[in-house]
Amino acid sequence: MSFYKEKLDKARLPKHIAIIMDGNGRWAKERGYDRIFGHQNGVTSVREITEAAAEIGIEYLTLYAFSTENWGRPQPEVEALMELLIDTIEKETPSLNQNNIRLMAIGDLSRLPDYAREKLQRCIDQTSQNSGLTLVLALSYSSRWEITNALKNICEGVQSGKYNIDDISDKLISDHLTTKSIPDPDLMIRTSGEERVSNFLLWQIAYSELYFTQTHWPAFRKDNFYQAIYEFQQRDRRFGK
Ligand code: IPE
Ligand code: IPE
Ligand code: MG
Repeated sequence: MSFYKEKLDKARLPKHIAIIMDGNGRWAKERGYDRIFGHQNGVTSVREITEAAAEIGIEYLTLYAFSTENWGRPQPEVEALMELLIDTIEKETPSLNQNNIRLMAIGDLSRLPDYAREKLQRCIDQTSQNSGLTLVLALSYSSRWEITNALKNICEGVQSGKYNIDDISDKLISDHLTTKSIPDPDLMIRTSGEERVSNFLLWQIAYSELYFTQTHWPAFRKDNFYQAIYEFQQRDRRFGK
């Protein structure tokens, strides 16, 4: 049943959609299960929404899968999340290829366990030639980590004489972020009712449209996604003009 899909203006689709996939724990708790069960069911939503994005021709989909702050969760949850993420990536590689989807990752991947980083890299390499949807996983990611790194790199460039202070521009900063090859999100979605950004793409969402929904991530389905795009298309983006 897809009601909103038919209502979309295919000529005005957002190029890049970013999603804060929140509410796995609450979804599970409401059903009397533990949080991990919520994460497991969240994978179904990842599959559905990736497919939905590819189906209508979205160019970039960025999913916030694990934040820098999430390392501070109880160790068993962190381990379960890591395993789930990596197992899924490995299992889904053939279907990413079948659907012409390219995988990328942003975040401090040096903090991932070796086995996880290697499997992730394998999937990135094996899908790098695909020309359809680019699926960007934000893993061990936070915006302040990213901006701090960019600042360090730019300062080094100034110190070594590669840049002058006057070369520092909006564009130079963007080019030092992990998202340098990716356009800014047009639309940012957060599920599960919380209306905050939680250290996600702070620089990049300067003019993004924000969409919040009560639906928990494991219950988020294609038509919820198309509804968010539909609402986006009703808005008037003025960019300060
Ligand atoms: C989102 O669900 C998944 C991650 C942050 C990895 P949560 O685990 O934050 O679930 P809630 O917000 O506690 O319900
Ligand atoms: C944001 O969700 C991070 C991800 C979805 C990966 P959190 O559940 O960690 O954020 P807070 O703690 O509610 O701000
Ligand atoms: Mg949460």
